[in-house]
Amino acid sequence: MSISIEISFSKSVKISGGLVVAMGSLAAPVSAAARTVDPAGQLDKAVRVAGFTGKTFATIDVIAPVEAPADRVALVGTGDPDKLSAHEWMRIGGKIFPLIGKASKVTVLLGDAGVPSAEAAADMALGLLMRSYSFDTYKTKKQEEDDSASRKVAVVFQHDDATQCKKAFAIRQAVWEGVELARNLVNEPANVLGPVEFAARAQDLESLGVTVEILTEKEMKKLKMEALLGVSLGSVRPPRMAIMRWQGAKPKDKPVAFVGKGVVFDTGGISIKPAAGMEDMKGDMGGAAAVIGLMHVLAARKAKVNAVGIIGLVENMPDGAAQRPGDIVRSMSGQTIEIINTDAEGRLVLCDALTYCQERFKPAIMINLATLTGAIIVALGPHHAGLFSNDDELSRALTKAGEVTEERVWRMPLSADYDKMIDSKFADMKNTGGRYAGSITAAQFLKRFVKDTPWAHLDIAGTAMGSPSTDINQSWASGFGVRLLDELVRANYES
Ligand code: BES
Ligand code: MN
Ligand code: ZN
Repeated sequence: MSISIEISFSKSVKISGGLVVAMGSLAAPVSAAARTVDPAGQLDKAVRVAGFTGKTFATIDVIAPVEAPADRVALVGTGDPDKLSAHEWMRIGGKIFPLIGKASKVTVLLGDAGVPSAEAAADMALGLLMRSYSFDTYKTKKQEEDDSASRKVAVVFQHDDATQCKKAFAIRQAVWEGVELARNLVNEPANVLGPVEFAARAQDLESLGVTVEILTEKEMKKLKMEALLGVSLGSVRPPRMAIMRWQGAKPKDKPVAFVGKGVVFDTGGISIKPAAGMEDMKGDMGGAAAVIGLMHVLAARKAKVNAVGIIGLVENMPDGAAQRPGDIVRSMSGQTIEIINTDAEGRLVLCDALTYCQERFKPAIMINLATLTGAIIVALGPHHAGLFSNDDELSRALTKAGEVTEERVWRMPLSADYDKMIDSKFADMKNTGGRYAGSITAAQFLKRFVKDTPWAHLDIAGTAMGSPSTDINQSWASGFGVRLLDELVRANYES
């Protein structure tokens, strides 16, 4: 069942039917606002019976008394509402979603005494939208059987400063669209989204004022991107590279650059993966999806920054034309690579994209995102992305943005000892470093293609997909990276 939420803010609302949600705090488990729709005191009884204390994230839900203007009344606990972070307000917003039930109208009564702020109210709305996401494009049966399928629910937030709420929400609306886009791209199967189709989705950003160029196989050959092209050899679907540019600052300002791994499906190639779980490799373009999602956000909220997004799009398949272990390819940088394992393909795609990015755009900073290694899932699980960087300041900024958005990153080491592990007998380097430290040797590989630019690599294999359900995400694809990097840009790179 897919519920599409329509958010609005209003200073005064006339309640007739539907669900009313009010906040409850430790100081006042039943807020004054809640009492206005519950003259008979039904809530007080429910609070007593159920032991609802108003602690953060607790909820309670009752049928409203006959004389009340609403059908149902719910309370959501805010604990000490003055102490909540933006992310906690988002989670509180998420908590509203399962309360909706069959209601088609929801009124959220905020604010005794200006709490929460307009910003926090907008955060709640964002959290609710993120929670409401579900990918059910291909569920035909469910939609026929369930007559409440695909319905709209109007959610009105009652807040004294509705004007300020609307302003704050406009920015979150842009963020939500970017997250939704990234989630959709990752959830979508690879038969639907090949490199060409994926590039077309990047091209769609033109409607927001993003300049988009798509490089074809022929153009990439001319640029000598042999590392990227090698990965694509076994696929009947031709590779693409999409270059997205958002110019929100002075034309001369150096751009911030984001590079994404876009392997639309990763079979492993000739070094083929085991069958179990291989279907998850439709999400091996999570880095590219985050980059598209981010570019969407920056353009939609008209960020005062110049930003470049580059995604390398290929399919890693085994066939008669596929590349082999032992093959040696020459990357766009001129450095040669011995292919040890055709399943270590992400770094081969990224190295040429990184070279292209630096040569063409000379960015102020460059961040790449990739579902690069299974080893990062072993190390960090689904709760942090691996962060590898040549720059302490950029690392700190990313870590901070991760704390704010709760899209967390954890810095991992880089050093000459690890770098040695990818020296090759036959070429400048090999594409795998052996059994140990797999995420680090992958990062060392990428580092060999980074010149003086402050750079960070985010290994999002554990966070972009298959992530645990949370108050703001119930979907296989999380959209990880979009909010993280939007926050990074907002806090550090906007003029
Ligand atoms: N796309 C995978 C990494 C991955 C694994 C992402 C699981 C998400 C979930 C990547 O291309 C890969 O196959 N990496 C290999 C590298 C190895 C061959 C050196 C891996 O992690 O096993
Ligand atoms: Mn692989
Ligand atoms: Zn891969």
